[in-house]
Amino acid sequence: MTENILTEYGVFCPLFHEKSTFSTNDLAKEYEKTFGTDAVFVADTQTGGRGRCGHTFLSPEGGLYASYLFHPTSPAERMHVTAAAAVAVAEALREMGVAPSIKWVNDVYIGGKKVAGILSEGAIENGKYRYAVVGIGINLADGCEKAGIADIATSVEAESGRIPDKTALLGRVLSRFLEALADDEKTMRLYRENCFVIGKDVEVRDGELAYPAYVKDMTQNGELLLKLPNGEEKTLCAGEVHIRVKQTK
Ligand code: BTN
Repeated sequence: MTENILTEYGVFCPLFHEKSTFSTNDLAKEYEKTFGTDAVFVADTQTGGRGRCGHTFLSPEGGLYASYLFHPTSPAERMHVTAAAAVAVAEALREMGVAPSIKWVNDVYIGGKKVAGILSEGAIENGKYRYAVVGIGINLADGCEKAGIADIATSVEAESGRIPDKTALLGRVLSRFLEALADDEKTMRLYRENCFVIGKDVEVRDGELAYPAYVKDMTQNGELLLKLPNGEEKTLCAGEVHIRVKQTK
């Protein structure tokens, strides 16, 4: 089904809605191969939803699962697609009266629990994006208890007492996202200001390697500045790295 229902949010490309699909990011990449134009893909459920580093992203009914395929014109190194999406999701949720913050690199949290995740993919050639796909998953209805993940995940319903209209929320997220893409400097400032891992002790997981560190700050490019227990300082790029915030007693 093709609809143009996001024009009032400044998004002028077709939207394809599926009841169930493997992954909306895959739909976007397939579409890119055939048509090569911008489009939005939404599914009520995903059977193969995924996050960074090949992690599974549980996608039962009651969530918003969407991917935006677009063709950035700026050089790839100046694009901060994941940061722009995280800022956009956080802003759109804040407008609903909840208090989200960003867990570097690509997650949005409320009260210490994950409410949304972002998976940016794309193809870069000669320092420029050929295309980019930003996939956004937001837990809307309160199914965390049932799914046995209530200790680590939350939902918009659990935090605000209501389930937002999916189209309206997606429209607000994408319009904030387009604004965020247009102003790198402001976006990276907001990304840093909203990133709750700064000033925290964390455990860094890099493949088989795990080590403790203190997060001193974030660079303008969105990398973390770490202080290691031996006093050394290190810059952490996203790559295949995960961090876990240590609980304070
Ligand atoms: C993460 O938790 O690391 C990111 C999760 C991203 C999930 C979204 S849902 C829509 C799109 N399709 C996917 O398979 N993943 C993204």
